[in-house]
Amino acid sequence: YVLGVDLGTSAVKVAAITKNGIIAAQQSSSYPLSHPQVGFSEQDPQDWVTGTTAAIHKLLTQDHIAPTAIAGLSFSGQMHGLVLLDHNNQVLRPAILWDDTRTSKQRQEVETKMGHKFIQITHNQPLEGFTLPKLLWVQENEPEIWQQATTFLLPKDYVRYCMTGKLATDYSDATGTVMLDIDTQSWSKEICDTFNIPLSICPPLLHSSELAGHITDAYAKTSGLQANMPVFAGAADNAASALGAGILQTNTVLSSIGTSGVVLKYESNAQTNYQEVLQFEDHAINDAYYSMGVTLAAGDSLNWFKKTFYPQTDFSQMIQDAEHSTLGAHGLLYTPYLIGERAPYADAKIRGSFIGVDSSHVRGDFVRAVLEGIIFSFEDLMQIYASHNNMFDTVISIGGGAKSPLWLQIQADIFNKKVVSLANEQTASLGAAMLATVGLGWYPDFISCTKNFVKVKTTYNPIPEHVSQYHELYAIYHQIYSQTKDLS
Ligand code: XUL
Repeated sequence: YVLGVDLGTSAVKVAAITKNGIIAAQQSSSYPLSHPQVGFSEQDPQDWVTGTTAAIHKLLTQDHIAPTAIAGLSFSGQMHGLVLLDHNNQVLRPAILWDDTRTSKQRQEVETKMGHKFIQITHNQPLEGFTLPKLLWVQENEPEIWQQATTFLLPKDYVRYCMTGKLATDYSDATGTVMLDIDTQSWSKEICDTFNIPLSICPPLLHSSELAGHITDAYAKTSGLQANMPVFAGAADNAASALGAGILQTNTVLSSIGTSGVVLKYESNAQTNYQEVLQFEDHAINDAYYSMGVTLAAGDSLNWFKKTFYPQTDFSQMIQDAEHSTLGAHGLLYTPYLIGERAPYADAKIRGSFIGVDSSHVRGDFVRAVLEGIIFSFEDLMQIYASHNNMFDTVISIGGGAKSPLWLQIQADIFNKKVVSLANEQTASLGAAMLATVGLGWYPDFISCTKNFVKVKTTYNPIPEHVSQYHELYAIYHQIYSQTKDLS
């Protein structure tokens, strides 16, 4: 086996996966998220380590995976989170996460000081969620912590450090810091110098399937894993998920609904330019990239709705109610801007809305509107590809959106594209495991690996009548942002 460790925002999932891509066992462990102030989102890095160790321990004891049968492990990790370490590699403060939006002032400072030069270097905007504005926030607001900071890491890198004693990050997570020069693939001295960040704070860079270290004796004792087992660098969760969904060529696009939602496309050319509306990141594969747009509250919209209006029921009841509504939710539209929006608007202040509420609406209409609104927000991103004449024929759906036939059909109808669900939609753990298999030399490359690891389950084709109805509704949905942005 190899272990694929998927370090998410609400939980860590660890899967034992065979050489042929079969998930033999998986375990997870959840951890808390803290919001000490509005817009703040933090986690204790130690919780990630404790959770990962607990999940591994359960795999070994409850699922009887023999430690000697595990050849290596690798990671998929929540992106952008800032972990700061002192000179003894002790954590200095809680990690500031990807969905934390306290850094609008710092974002502005980066834009003012560097302007277009910043975008030339990183191929991205310095948005609130990314790591650089978080570093600047600590520099400005917590000088006593900043002075002690010797290294920063991304979330999965900290867990890997605790397993191996080695500090590093990988290129796919490094691009998410917006401190990497994409053209030279090295940390940007110009960015660091401009903001008085010592270059030495940036960790060494590795390719995702590169050997990062070995399990230490101490971690072998706490986890039950074999000492000296190889650990491979791993990738940003979106890169790992794309890999696990087989996004290795330009004619397929990923639609992923987790807490956040992602529309992601493989890119072979670093100079591809979407006018910075989309993020541009290194893929988990060498010399490949991906563009993506993030809807901050995708699955989170549904979670919020359930928590608030369906506290006693499960998701299947909500989806059933949505099935009893109609296409267009009897005239109700929803925008998912619960915590602001990343793309296409890069607006931390905007908030969501229900438009067209009518005295005849019932709860199921609201659920339906939420399901459709999330996909309309994805369509905003798909339209960016269309406006750049960037054609693709298939959308691979993973996460919450792939769990319900209704939601898959809504995607096919709104995107007007063939939408495919996968036999194994734990694509992040799968991608992490693929990195370990290629790192171990079990496969010569990722294409040959996907043949075993990625299998199509069902294909949904757009229904022409639905497509034209959604087309009209989307035209209305698309106006809601500009009509409501000054109200929030
Ligand atoms: C991507 C992003 C999120 C996180 C979730 O830019 O912020 O998708 O990676 O873990």
